[in-house]
Amino acid sequence: MEKTPNRTLITTALPYANGPVHIGHLAGVYIPADIYARYLRMRGREVLMIGGSDEHGVPITIKAKAEGVTPQDIVDRYHAIIRDSMAGLGISFDVYSRTTSELHSQTASEFFRRLYDKGEFVEKTSMQLYDEEAGQFLADRYVTGTCPHCGAEGAYGDQCEACGTSLNATDLVNPKSAITGSVPVMRETKHYYLPLDKWQGALEKWILEGHKEWKTNVYGQCKSWLDMGLQPRAVSRDLDWGIPVPVEGAEGKVLYVWFDAPIGYISNTIDLVGDDYTKWWKDPETRMLHFIGKDNIVFHCIVFPSMLMADGSYNLPDNVPANEFLNLEGDKISTSRNWAVWLHEYLRDFEGKQDVLRYVLTANAPETKDNDFTWADFQQRNNSELVAILGNFVNRAVVLTHKYFDGTVPAANPTEKETELQAEINDLKAKVTEALDNFHFREALKLAMDMARAGNRYLQETEPWKLAKTDMERTGTILNTALQICANLAIVFEPFLPFMSDKLLKMLGGDKISWDMLGCMDLVPAGAKIGEPVLLFEKIEDDAIQAQVQKLLDTKKANELQAWKPAPVKADCTYEDFEKVDIRVGKVLECSKVKKSKKLLQFLIDDGMEKRTILSGIALSYEDPSVLVGKEVCFIANFPPRKMMGIESQGMILSAVNPDGTLTVISPSAPVAPGASVG
Ligand code: MF3
Ligand code: ZN
Repeated sequence: MEKTPNRTLITTALPYANGPVHIGHLAGVYIPADIYARYLRMRGREVLMIGGSDEHGVPITIKAKAEGVTPQDIVDRYHAIIRDSMAGLGISFDVYSRTTSELHSQTASEFFRRLYDKGEFVEKTSMQLYDEEAGQFLADRYVTGTCPHCGAEGAYGDQCEACGTSLNATDLVNPKSAITGSVPVMRETKHYYLPLDKWQGALEKWILEGHKEWKTNVYGQCKSWLDMGLQPRAVSRDLDWGIPVPVEGAEGKVLYVWFDAPIGYISNTIDLVGDDYTKWWKDPETRMLHFIGKDNIVFHCIVFPSMLMADGSYNLPDNVPANEFLNLEGDKISTSRNWAVWLHEYLRDFEGKQDVLRYVLTANAPETKDNDFTWADFQQRNNSELVAILGNFVNRAVVLTHKYFDGTVPAANPTEKETELQAEINDLKAKVTEALDNFHFREALKLAMDMARAGNRYLQETEPWKLAKTDMERTGTILNTALQICANLAIVFEPFLPFMSDKLLKMLGGDKISWDMLGCMDLVPAGAKIGEPVLLFEKIEDDAIQAQVQKLLDTKKANELQAWKPAPVKADCTYEDFEKVDIRVGKVLECSKVKKSKKLLQFLIDDGMEKRTILSGIALSYEDPSVLVGKEVCFIANFPPRKMMGIESQGMILSAVNPDGTLTVISPSAPVAPGASVG
């Protein structure tokens, strides 16, 4: 099979416009797609990279309700943030459009209507959950309940996030409306179903027999869906946000978001090239690739292809290089729990460091299994790879050329050493190319880095800074060679680190580059002037990393507080039980930390009769214990004395336990005589 045909349509999953884009989206979809698109362009292939916002679906309407704004307000806000931040990271979409555009609405309607007219849908009436208070049907995320598979609470009507199973709203145990919280009733409604079962045989042949080369995670998921046997799938919903079903008698119904969104790939192509879209979608010579995350596999390998086959005039994707998930500091990334590194915030906090994020997310891409992003790894890869290997090599080559040759590229008189180095570069070129052709972007990046390593080793071994004292001709050859390697690095890294590549090219005085030039050792001509050295990467200090880690810790704390519920009430306590406990008010005379103990505070209490010492394990909650001096507190007076850390404690101070685990001592709301009983 020809691996890089002349024309490739690259689609990237359309992100939901209900939140900004985060590192999980980037590592899974947009960075790999961008690397691949840039690579093909450098090879002179015809490429379109299609993107856009997915602006329908229930979560957008729920968010709008919660904020008291319209769904359009929500998608307008996030579409702009997503579009601008992706551009900021250098994701080179040829078009970035949106599914609330008129063109998309028309394209999706016509697509539905074509299938409808061909009799490709089945109309079925069924019982669906209905919220009587809100007066509407509850589709997808409008219902939550207990997952029938794993028993987790809070599963959604379309999916359980705990076990990943995709669900129908009516599968949920103890369903509850997400709008009013009421228990829904069953009501009859009619929907349009795409009979996936009709395409079962064709899909099996196309994927299971015809695409054994697909990634194992993708092939495996398809196989398991196909082995279970496909069922008809509803492609309409009773909602007021979406594209109206363009059929008489379907008033109040809209297209299911997963029906209209992939058609967005088509409408966005039309948006860009007009009628020429047929060349991209219908010419069998054009190759189509869907870049997606693993949660999208079924829609891109089973549902959308069934839609395309039902139409009959479109190409099917040639490959769907789906990625697994990226976690953040050990936890699943979540928009609703704000557990994410948001792209627009990154670009603000790390100005000019787009390539660092691109590098780290590619080096850690979840290509074959879920992976973890940590800020420590981010810092480490920047400091000891980008700065210490790539940046350092380029800097040495450029600085030494200025130092010994006044910034003019010296002539080269290559020896065996240089020939060997060139052979190594050419070998790496072949390997990077193969890795890229096979969507192995991590591997490709590592190989590109090996080129910089080879350059460093070459300088280390030849030591031009020493030779310059005795042999300027040889020094010239070495620096010329080092500058050629720099030019090769600008080429090989362009798909991965385009900002660095631009800077480096400018420094070397080059402009146009192509993949073919890779491996050449005459890219920077002798006699040419190179620019002043510019640092390509700079060290990231601990405090910048610490600030990001702190932000995540704050999020974690806020989430815990939000999830906090008071403890359930204990078993009955009779009046007699209660009467046994002698609670009194005492005045704090002294309060200090117990030496060598992290938790204990030592109180001296005026209990109205005498002074008593009480130890209390609340030191972590009172940074400065002296704030308690003079306060009145409640304590249990009839606990038997107990020795801790060599000190006898005569009672127990009462404290409330806060949601975050800190403790607050209980004081009367107005002055009370020391010794007064509490009851
Ligand atoms: N919005 C979906 C998601 O974020 C992806 C849609 S991809 C498309 O999971 F094919 F529908 F466009
Ligand atoms: Zn579950």
